[in-house]
Amino acid sequence: MTQTFGDNACHPEREPKQCHPERSEGSLRPVNEILRFAQDDSRFPRPARDALEQFPVAFQDDVSYTGVPGAAWAPGRVNLIGEHTDYNDGFVLPIAVDRVAAFAGRARSDGIVRLWSTHFQEYAQFSLEGLPLTFEQQSNTLPGWARYVLAVATELTRTGVRLAGFDAVVGGDVPLGGGMSSSAALEVATAQACALFSGGQFLEHGGGKPRHYYTRTGGSSHIVVAGLAPAMLRFAQQDNVEVTLTPMQVAALCQRAEHIASGLQSGILDQAASCLGRPGAAILLDCRSLAYRYLPFDTPELSLVVIDTRVRRELATSAYNERRKQCEDATRILRDVMMQHEPENEKAQAICALRDITQEQFHRYGPYLPEVLRRRAGYVIAEDERVLQAVKLLELGMIEEIGSLLWLSHAGLRDGYEVSCAELDTLVEIARQVPGVLGARMMGGGFGGCTINLVRTESVETLRQAVNQQYPDRTGLEAGFDICRAAGGPGNGWVSELGTPL
Ligand code: GLA
Repeated sequence: MTQTFGDNACHPEREPKQCHPERSEGSLRPVNEILRFAQDDSRFPRPARDALEQFPVAFQDDVSYTGVPGAAWAPGRVNLIGEHTDYNDGFVLPIAVDRVAAFAGRARSDGIVRLWSTHFQEYAQFSLEGLPLTFEQQSNTLPGWARYVLAVATELTRTGVRLAGFDAVVGGDVPLGGGMSSSAALEVATAQACALFSGGQFLEHGGGKPRHYYTRTGGSSHIVVAGLAPAMLRFAQQDNVEVTLTPMQVAALCQRAEHIASGLQSGILDQAASCLGRPGAAILLDCRSLAYRYLPFDTPELSLVVIDTRVRRELATSAYNERRKQCEDATRILRDVMMQHEPENEKAQAICALRDITQEQFHRYGPYLPEVLRRRAGYVIAEDERVLQAVKLLELGMIEEIGSLLWLSHAGLRDGYEVSCAELDTLVEIARQVPGVLGARMMGGGFGGCTINLVRTESVETLRQAVNQQYPDRTGLEAGFDICRAAGGPGNGWVSELGTPL
């Protein structure tokens, strides 16, 4: 659904020159001057700078703004290994990448949020008043992309955070629906935007002390850019009260937002990876305790290549939720069988996810499961082991050896978990024939999306050629080809009136 905002609405693509024709120099200059500084500020990711540039084109000063422009962003992710283990309380090894979802806008003095999507070339609007109760009703009137923004605002409101309205351009360079978690990036960027426009801040922790501090008192505004995770997200509230959320609290909140916005009963992998990103590092996350630690992943000789099948399937959400349910069923059956056979085993009673079942126990009790559940559980239990093996290899600096785990992971996802598809299998088969490709597998929920490929940098072009030559003939489709780097987590900041950071 496309919305416009009365006569004042501009369409940035169709009529850029006609925007703001009647505005005086006086009202035009400050924002444009401010935004000119932002264009040169390399601390804002490129999509945030682009969104800042679009902002005065997409929105006129037809409402009262309470501050200078600001931007917020959050990265997408790849997942090295640990697929469909997150909602089984298991382990994942994602990497936040150098692609972000970005907001640029200004805070309003009322409770309205207006958005312009550069991807979809459409406006959307909702009200913060009445949330969370009005979520369903408002969500039904919004285009899909805007529901994620509304959902995060709803979940923030549910935690007791008071938000201010804002107008913002929403853009970014995470391929949409392409397996790099564009929706999680949008959710986490929304939390950043809500904090910023509500007068909050993003506190970067470097050795315990925040390295940037932002204040809006006294009418001065400053850029605060946080490049390194983990960082606290702070929401300024009335009467000097503030709410501070840890990165994992933000991730969990955004995961809940994903559930209500899309109906996907996702785990926490995508949102956690986006919140915790660190340049040159992979993140080992224990999805039960939510403890995490970083492992170096910064080898110029190796590249992470993401290849997009360009296939998106509607059944992905229902099949995902079905897999989740099958894992829960398998857990329950295995626990009951173990309790019957080992009544003295106290640990058996405590089993509440596939994470709690060892390979040895599965070997012994797996045959009690119906065939399909046995395959599902077998894959998850083996994949958890593979994550821990990959961690050991990373610790030993043996990154190349991780490749063989990726091939095994794909075979398990294809045959045991049955979430692959012909196009994903084709990409993995093509990659397998290219010398210098150390490992490849489907990534994310499955049924389309991307593969992740660990490739010797010198072989990246050979892989690209092989995919270009073979994939269209075998599938009738053109694949997308992207090389990613491990990058930092989310951030936000005001554009200073002086063009200088604090
Ligand atoms: C999707 C979900 C994640 C995770 C992956 C599979 O990306 O959002 O929570 O379950 O699928 O690993």
